[in-house]
Amino acid sequence: MSARIIDGNALSAKLRDQLAARAAALKARGVIPCLAVILVGEDPASQVYVRNKVNGCDKAGIRSLHDVYASDVEPAVVFARIAELNADPGVHGILVQLSLPARFDAAAVLEAIAPEKDVDGFHAENVGALMQGKPRFIPCTPYGVMKMLESENVPLPGAEAVIVGRSNIVGKPMAMLLLARNCTVTVCHSQSQDLGFHTRRADILVAAVGRARMIAGDMIKPGATVIDVGINRTADGKLCGDVDFESAREVAGLITPVPGGVGPMTITMLLTNTLEAAERLLP
Ligand code: GUN
Repeated sequence: MSARIIDGNALSAKLRDQLAARAAALKARGVIPCLAVILVGEDPASQVYVRNKVNGCDKAGIRSLHDVYASDVEPAVVFARIAELNADPGVHGILVQLSLPARFDAAAVLEAIAPEKDVDGFHAENVGALMQGKPRFIPCTPYGVMKMLESENVPLPGAEAVIVGRSNIVGKPMAMLLLARNCTVTVCHSQSQDLGFHTRRADILVAAVGRARMIAGDMIKPGATVIDVGINRTADGKLCGDVDFESAREVAGLITPVPGGVGPMTITMLLTNTLEAAERLLP
């Protein structure tokens, strides 16, 4: 058996057409939706992610502001810029690209963003709202994963969902979203004993660890839906996920590729959250 591929580019293209229409409707009412993106440092992967986010805004009719700071910038400078963006009524969403240099208190930076502009959904207030089952902004990557599952009508109530990785950005919010849809959720991490025991039980397997091809076909339940959130670079410079795609596709029922899977969906959901933030301010 060879798994059906969930095409994140195709689904994104469909959703982004709808977003462009929403952006146009806002403009017709005199509101130009705007996302501010802050990047600190010179990490090449972060530079690519930020460029993709800014390009995504342009194509969807969302204005973007793009501030880049050297890695040795004083944190006070970044905090001052966040305060300025918080106070600017023309800015609807603010995103600080992670990770930040070690000198920064990343949690304090995220808390400095006004919750109503926190389109990443990383502010403690928004994390709390998600935990309570009343999300205001859903973190973009897990939000994109849920859209992919919905687009394929993957049955969720009662499904065994196993998430590998417990980050604040993906693993934890992913667990909350699947739980809210009545999955039985297991979260595995670096200290988990016998990872394969857990992954082989999964009807839905989400890999979000950041280790190239660590989930092989023999760790997957036949027919499972496999969602690969990893973006890793191999020694020869190629992109690959946390799942060993070639062996996994022989066992899984549905699978996301890397690239062209979850990655474009993350940006699509960021644009969605930005429009949502702007629409909430309409009279
Ligand atoms: N770094 C990796 N993923 C993300 C994300 O979704 N948002 C931000 N701000 N930084 C990230």
